[in-house]
Amino acid sequence: MPAVPPVSRQQAVQAIEEQFTLDKPLLESLSARFQELYDYGLANHGAEMQMIPSFVTGVPTGTEKGTYLALDLGGTNLRVCEVALDGNGTFTIKQEKYKVSDQLKTGPVNDLFNYMATSIDNFLTDFGTTSTEDVLHLGFTFSFPVEQSAIDRGHLIHWTKGFNCPDAPGKDVVQLLQDALDRKHIKVKCSALVNDTVGALLAHAYAAKGALISAIFGTGTNGAYLEDIRKIKKLKTAEGSISHMVVNTEWGGFDDERKALPVTIFDNKVDRESIRPRNHIFEKMISGMYLGEVARCVLLHLIDQLVLFQGFSSKLLNTQYGFDTAYMSAIEADKEDATSTSSPTRTVLVATMGIKEEHISAEDIETVRTVCRIVGTRAARLSAVAIAATMVQTGNVQSTGPNDDGVKVGMDGSVIEYYPHFEERMRGALRELIGEEGEKRVKIGLAKDGSGVGAALGALQAAKQLASGHRVEV
Ligand code: BGC
Repeated sequence: MPAVPPVSRQQAVQAIEEQFTLDKPLLESLSARFQELYDYGLANHGAEMQMIPSFVTGVPTGTEKGTYLALDLGGTNLRVCEVALDGNGTFTIKQEKYKVSDQLKTGPVNDLFNYMATSIDNFLTDFGTTSTEDVLHLGFTFSFPVEQSAIDRGHLIHWTKGFNCPDAPGKDVVQLLQDALDRKHIKVKCSALVNDTVGALLAHAYAAKGALISAIFGTGTNGAYLEDIRKIKKLKTAEGSISHMVVNTEWGGFDDERKALPVTIFDNKVDRESIRPRNHIFEKMISGMYLGEVARCVLLHLIDQLVLFQGFSSKLLNTQYGFDTAYMSAIEADKEDATSTSSPTRTVLVATMGIKEEHISAEDIETVRTVCRIVGTRAARLSAVAIAATMVQTGNVQSTGPNDDGVKVGMDGSVIEYYPHFEERMRGALRELIGEEGEKRVKIGLAKDGSGVGAALGALQAAKQLASGHRVEV
């Protein structure tokens, strides 16, 4: 008698589907919890959803002009850019991408920052600059939780997304970069520090002539929005002339206490084996760095139940992070008949993942597609919870009348850009949460190059704060 409890394919898949399904009442309870944690984070330092004041006190109008350098760390690659804003909602950008090795991501922080300074130097050597200034101003998009105390000052709270230089938390990342630049005598001044969500908001406001909310659904996930300064209760600044400030929510840390999130055993495994266990569980259920890994764990479970690939796996499928989220995208885009010998799903499984052709049936192809759909749908519906909560937080759910043209929301990241059906599934859940009228008010635009253009706009805002004598700091 076999020790593996006999279960049919249908029963096994149904059990997965049940664990990953977020029905309306569950969505609503998550949304209510989001609201609680928004308020808590705005009033308290050190909250799990940190609600970080960005010291950016308004959004662009599209008329901004100037040329700035931008440095972007926190997505798949390091990028150095030169952005020329032409004052017409448009810009030109020159950019170069640099790989960041795992060694740099987890070694001494000075090595990482020296590498960034060298990359800036290489960029300037390769491309030159159009600026005539003696010292070039640089905006730094650093996409990790940072406690800011001015637009050009902020201490790393902790790492996320596979970075883990142990000596970095608590240090001012602008100072680290400036020191690395100065050591190499590179005439660049880091004048602004922005999170990528803040960058996306600034970039989208510049391009779309106004925006209130932004979201990243890429390697990681996070959102930012323009908040009424009176609601940011924990902020004690002497500057009395400001009415609003962009807040970086760090919603990846939503419900790390796991009071409301329906975390499955697959999520627990992904989390337990990740670089920072018990941290950013919401992000691990949504973002591109982890979706493939969640799906991989589900597929292995079905293999171990002997309902998939006749119980056989492959070296790559057995390897942590071996099943990339991009493969899920290819599988979800696959419309071919499951019996086809050349369907994209079969190609991913055989050519990329190394599963033996003779172990894959047409039913297996269907099952793999279903698993991707289940994991991808949950991610999109969870994302809707964050967007709905931000619409409620900013008082933007109700129509403002016949001329209402909604709320511009800038989004960036590989998941929103490339994952099939992501937006449509997110919108479905938005309708359940804030009604059809509310959902229609969410005007999503891709904040292309948000991190580069946003950093440039951050540097411009820093220069304005200085020139007007209204430097905001605590
Ligand atoms: C970081 C955020 C960032 C997001 C998207 C998260 O892991 O904590 O600061 O905005 O990824 O890049």
